[in-house]
Amino acid sequence: MKKRSDNTPPREVTSNQNGIHPNLVTTVNKHLSHAFQKPYAQHNIEAFKDCSQWLAQRPNPLILDSFCGTGESTRQLARLFPESLVIGVDKSAVRLERHQQEQDEPIENYRLVRADVDDFWRLAVDANWQLKHHFLLYPNPWPKSAQLQYRVHGSAVFPALLQLGGEVTLRSNWKLYVDEFAAALSIAGKGAATRPYFPETTITAFERKYHHAGQSLWECRSQLTEK
Ligand SMILES: C[S@@+](CC[C@H](N)C(=O)[O-])C[C@H]1O[C@@H](n2cnc3c(N)ncnc32)[C@H](O)[C@@H]1O
Repeated sequence: MKKRSDNTPPREVTSNQNGIHPNLVTTVNKHLSHAFQKPYAQHNIEAFKDCSQWLAQRPNPLILDSFCGTGESTRQLARLFPESLVIGVDKSAVRLERHQQEQDEPIENYRLVRADVDDFWRLAVDANWQLKHHFLLYPNPWPKSAQLQYRVHGSAVFPALLQLGGEVTLRSNWKLYVDEFAAALSIAGKGAATRPYFPETTITAFERKYHHAGQSLWECRSQLTEK
């Protein structure tokens, strides 16, 4: 198969699903009422321990940038919220290794970690972490109807996201993903809605790619716990 060059404009998401997934309510309620019991992988436990040590002497508010890719957004968020600590989590070593620091502007209040959020979020809940913000920027869409369980809100780890609290921000170029995420939050009793997102400056590689290709971007923000 011919490989797409980096300059090829990204395709719009296409799906065999036309509206909110018919199984969303059942799936979310099932996950809300049953604990996710998958055993933790040792490398995620180690990664979580490293983060906990880094946080131990620092009382600052905490921001999580889940699915951070190369960590560009993590760095930008650290710059934007200098009083906070920002942790970027991604399971791909290849992406994380592409992280670029600007030599002339040292930013110390962030850290990148290689871990799977399925474990990392639950370990953070076990350790009673409470977030100020939680960013989920352009998670993989899993657009086929049969892939609901791979989307954040269709996954068994969704309750851990709720328990981590703070203000959650999810962005995607696939409106249905954001609509469905907002619907899942509503099922869990949280106020949420989709709105268009117009970046003044893009803060992730995917955001830049979609925005420059003229695709619409969508966002859902929800306050999961009191400030
Ligand atoms: C579409 S990319 C978006 C990356 C970045 N947020 C951006 O906007 O450029 C999705 C990222 O999610 C990561 N990812 C997917 N599933 C994950 C999981 N369960 N735990 C941690 N990272 C995951 C992938 O490695 C990938 O870097």
